[in-house]
Amino acid sequence: MNKQEYQFKFEVYDSINDLTEEDAWLLSEAREVTQHAYAPYSHFQVGAIARLDNGEIVAGSNQENASFPVGLCAERVLLASAASLFPKVPIKTIAISYHNDNGESNHPISPCGICRQSLLEYESLSKHPIRLILGGMEGKVYIIERAGLLLPLSFTAEDLS
Ligand code: THU
Repeated sequence: MNKQEYQFKFEVYDSINDLTEEDAWLLSEAREVTQHAYAPYSHFQVGAIARLDNGEIVAGSNQENASFPVGLCAERVLLASAASLFPKVPIKTIAISYHNDNGESNHPISPCGICRQSLLEYESLSKHPIRLILGGMEGKVYIIERAGLLLPLSFTAEDLS
């Protein structure tokens, strides 16, 4: 028996003001996009916005449903839009923000487990890392150099071959 260790590093910024102009713009757009969420059940609006390799910008927001499991997270709405509008164009960076009607929106949130799996598949397919910028309406910002880092020991297409 031997023990394996998994660790990854990510960047922590005190606020949006410490980001590059390009990254700060993307995060501020993600904050705006929370307004397009349809979240009458959770009252938790998530906005995601991507910069593609060809310079295009694609947005996503969570879309809930009275039948709760039907709801979609902002990240997967974004990935489906990007794949439909710009097939085969890699995503360079995604900024994710949120607004919580019932509480604070002052710390970063990270993608849920299902979205991590979807992000990983998109990275693998496009053979391009997807940088993540995570931040609330205010407060600290995390930057993760590629989404796949959030899903160690993942199940991928290779396992099916
Ligand atoms: N949600 C997202 O859109 N992205 C995440 O990464 C976490 C959760 C949504 C799903 C649901 O509509 C609401 O936030 C509360 O869970």
